[in-house]
Amino acid sequence: MLPETALSKSEPTFSLTNFEIKDEDLPEFRDMRFENINELQLDHPGASDEDYRQRRDYIASLSKNFRETGVITDVEYTEQEQAIWRTVATRLEEIQSRRASAFYLDAKEKLGISTERIPQLSEMNKRLNKLCNFRLAPIEGLVETRGFLSWLSYRTMLCTQYIRHHSRPEYTPEPDIVHEAIGHIPNFTNCDFADFSQFIGHGARIATDEQLEELGRLYWFTVEFGLVEEEGELKAYGAGLLSSFGELENAFTESVERRPFDLEQVINTPYDYSDMQPILYVIPSYAYLKETTRKYIESFSKK
Ligand SMILES: [Fe+2]
Repeated sequence: MLPETALSKSEPTFSLTNFEIKDEDLPEFRDMRFENINELQLDHPGASDEDYRQRRDYIASLSKNFRETGVITDVEYTEQEQAIWRTVATRLEEIQSRRASAFYLDAKEKLGISTERIPQLSEMNKRLNKLCNFRLAPIEGLVETRGFLSWLSYRTMLCTQYIRHHSRPEYTPEPDIVHEAIGHIPNFTNCDFADFSQFIGHGARIATDEQLEELGRLYWFTVEFGLVEEEGELKAYGAGLLSSFGELENAFTESVERRPFDLEQVINTPYDYSDMQPILYVIPSYAYLKETTRKYIESFSKK
């Protein structure tokens, strides 16, 4: 049931064997209704910093504009915001050079994501569009699971534009531009990964509540915390790993159990987002993940 999201009755016909999406198929962003966007939580490091709150609200308002106009407004980031980016991106790059998937490292470079400055969604969008027909759309905060995942069925990921608080550059309790651009966005230059994401999106649109919970776990153990085997070595591709110093180092220590990817197991394994991940799953390839997910989502409509 999707009554509160933008996905209206006039949706284009969609099937997993015909998943090309053209610009004219996209629902109107101005129709998106997001009653469930989370406000800044009290445990956020910037919660009692009035200047930070105002700045975050301003950047969020630019994202909101997108739904009225369909045009992404570039953010003129301040020197302080750029400094947070440089600190975090530089430190992550060092760990990523050892731990990240080779594909991811290459994609990051191709998208022009550097340690020097915060990339704009508009510039990354151009490249993503050309490579695998994928899109980014600004959003002003966390959205409820079904609404967020459903947009992936239009090969579109909703992305925040603001950045974490300067007092804790290593930490953010909510997605921010570091998590989006360093964690998620490079993966969408891989067409198998983009297709896989779209299958998850399609699943979210037709899932029962129970299936949606399973999908949430699949998303968690792949898109957020996935490992991949590349030329005999384990590498990280999940955004929660790639955008966190602690998680990325921890993923390869003995305190983590790394299991071969097993869909049935993954969708039935609960997780705790407030702590370091004790279990991670390793996919043999993105193509495998795509095909396994395709079969799984196809089973939704038959149940
Ligand atoms: Fe994420």
